[in-house]
Amino acid sequence: MKVIVKDNYEEASLEAFKVMKEVVVNKPNAVLGLATGSTPLGLYKNMIEDHKENGTSYKNITTFNLDEYVGIDRNHPESYYTFMNKNLFSGLDIPAENVHLPYGDKKEDCDAYEKAMENYQVDIQLLGLGGNGHIGFNEPGTSFDETTHIVELQERTRKDNARFFENDINQVPTHAITMGIATIMKANKVLLIATGENKADAVKAMIEGPKDTSCPASALQDHKDVIVILDKAAASKLTK
Ligand code: GLP
Repeated sequence: MKVIVKDNYEEASLEAFKVMKEVVVNKPNAVLGLATGSTPLGLYKNMIEDHKENGTSYKNITTFNLDEYVGIDRNHPESYYTFMNKNLFSGLDIPAENVHLPYGDKKEDCDAYEKAMENYQVDIQLLGLGGNGHIGFNEPGTSFDETTHIVELQERTRKDNARFFENDINQVPTHAITMGIATIMKANKVLLIATGENKADAVKAMIEGPKDTSCPASALQDHKDVIVILDKAAASKLTK
């Protein structure tokens, strides 16, 4: 793992943008694995600004998102489908048919998403990090061999995400559909961003802890090309 520590969120986002832009410029038909949450917002803002100012094109880019809540309409303001359209796709020239997000609550829906990905090789997979070490929605305890599957969200995750649902945990969906860790590990390159003190324990477990399902992100220790971008607060518990 290559670990880069920046002073703050803005600098971390800019650093992540440089990595992403290099992939898109070097391979105009690249396949991007994308993430939701607060973390990638700064990166997405940079991508949109760069597209508008410098004309970096996404016309031939294909995207696959990590995850989506179960039981939430795609047009719900907090669905990841809405999030991606609002915060990224509407600001780029990416054709709608090149965009993929998982959706559904059944094994067939999971298998269909894996099947859709079969003909593509993800060039770069963007990840945030859950406060409990999850990646996508792979909660602690998830086998590293899982592909796209339905998960029950843990209380910590639902609490962390309640801020998007009027701070009411009862409004946060209980389940999600997510790429599995085995799906994520197939990407050529992984770019993980984590910022803020709330992520410091998970960052330490991911980088310095044992490779163990208690920290799903620790699976990345086995990936050949991982760039981890942190701010000082998220890096504050690292000892090495
Ligand atoms: C969410 C998402 C993850 C995300 C993580 C961190 O629940 N499923 O893909 O990386 O939790 O979220 P945030 O960036 O808002 O801290």
